[in-house]
Amino acid sequence: MHGNVHPLGLHHPHAGDSRPPLMRFDDFCFAYGDRPVLRHIDLSIDAGDSVVLMGDNGSGKSTLLKAMSGLVHPQVGTYRFDGQVVDAASMRDADFSRRLHQRVGFVFQDSDAMLFTASVEDEVAFGPAQMGLPADEQRRRVDDCLRLLGIEDLRDRAPYNLSGGEKKKVAIAAVLALNPDVLCLDEPMAALDARTQEWLLGFLKELKRAGKTLVVATHDQSLADELADYFVYMGDFHGYADRPHVHVNE
Ligand SMILES: Nc1ncnc2c1ncn2[C@@H]1O[C@H](COP(=O)(O)OP(=O)(O)O)[C@@H](O)[C@H]1O
Ligand SMILES: [Mg+2]
Repeated sequence: MHGNVHPLGLHHPHAGDSRPPLMRFDDFCFAYGDRPVLRHIDLSIDAGDSVVLMGDNGSGKSTLLKAMSGLVHPQVGTYRFDGQVVDAASMRDADFSRRLHQRVGFVFQDSDAMLFTASVEDEVAFGPAQMGLPADEQRRRVDDCLRLLGIEDLRDRAPYNLSGGEKKKVAIAAVLALNPDVLCLDEPMAALDARTQEWLLGFLKELKRAGKTLVVATHDQSLADELADYFVYMGDFHGYADRPHVHVNE
């Protein structure tokens, strides 16, 4: 949120904390080539916040999630994660970028863009192995995340011939295996059947209840309503003015 002031003037739960916000954008500007996509974004998100990004197609939701994850960098302005500047220069440091990718988990809209190994087990084990965790800790994380997502029976399956809903669960398990501080999800409900959507809604509500920091871009009204501590409306204003919100990229 902006500073520590709730957008509706309410007292922000973290007001008075001396710690910097977990994610902070100041006058953040990003263009693909000469096409401006993110314009002068000022936004702060605190640890434990559950934030829903809403806006029309093309309003910059996916790009903002990429910026949070260090996948695109500002041409003007700054993004700080846990007080540290994330930009093209800092991300060239392999240790810094590995650490950021561990701390900010990003579940892409398109699961196929994330899944690349021969088995579900390998997929979920990949991140912990990259982190250099001891073998027994890697195994424990894989087992925990498969169980958490209810996909133990998929362990030996090839990700590429799973259903869309199964792929989404594997992609989420693979990200949670990194034990990230923040979970960013891009249109997680898209292309899921009603039953899987209902399951995912319950799952994300559990994560919120457990205090996980969530940033979710979605057009799904029930997901938005159930999850949002506050909304970030991007582009033209179509939101509910009576819900806590900030409006960026106008
Ligand atoms: N890789 C890219 N190269 C060039 N333009 C892009 C790229 N990705 C997205 N864009 C453009 O950036 C704008 C914002 O896209 P995006 O962040 O995907 O919006 P949203 O997720 O809200 O639909 C759109 O105009 C889109 O065409
Ligand atoms: Mg998008």
